[in-house]
Amino acid sequence: MDGNGRWAEKQGSEDRIDGHERGAKVLCDIVEEAKALGVEYLTFYTFSTENWSRPEKEVDFILADLLPRYLEQKMDFMVKEQVRFKALGDIQALPDHTQELIKRVEDATVEFSEIHANLALNYSGRSEILNAVKDIAAKASEDPSVIDSLDEDKFRNYLYDPELPDPDLLIRTSGELRVSNFLLWQLAYTEIYITDVLWPDFTKEEFRQAVGEFGKRDRRYGGV
Ligand code: IPE
Ligand code: MG
Repeated sequence: MDGNGRWAEKQGSEDRIDGHERGAKVLCDIVEEAKALGVEYLTFYTFSTENWSRPEKEVDFILADLLPRYLEQKMDFMVKEQVRFKALGDIQALPDHTQELIKRVEDATVEFSEIHANLALNYSGRSEILNAVKDIAAKASEDPSVIDSLDEDKFRNYLYDPELPDPDLLIRTSGELRVSNFLLWQLAYTEIYITDVLWPDFTKEEFRQAVGEFGKRDRRYGGV
């Protein structure tokens, strides 16, 4: 979800926060549209471990105001629409109140499976892999057979969400041509769609267009 800051600037706003506020609304629209299209998993890159380097006011707004506010406000919607919610990342570093709300919404939606909406929060693809390696090493020190029997499927059990399938499609808004430390293990064969549209201007129609474009791709997975 990139381009919130540039969107705010384009509007003549003094504050990048206005772009994040609008971006949160768009996120909810996209969950609705994805459900209508039959998409089963959505993972939104919401806050990276690198985003802590932003001004404190912006970080506080995202993590201690916007995020808990939306979690609280949208809990009933998620239950009604049977949206399974999960947060992926190092959640312990988030403000306590935000952590409590994450837990509450995760618990309230734990039985749903039609559509999964994940927020990558304080997320880093490299950290996810590194944490997996550390967990495996700790286990292997007690049971060395863990190493011999390790394969790609078993490695997945050490990631933030072992049940998260590899994404079919990565959509990046605002025209940037990089992966930015997102789902590094899982993106190995993901199709990439990049649009110049800034995230706050992204619409249900744009989402539909991206999914349509994906439908035309010829996925060969290294074959011919
Ligand atoms: C995405 O928009 C939101 C977050 C990364 C939290 P940006 O805030 O990165 O917007 P730009 O890239 O400055 O326009
Ligand atoms: Mg950005």
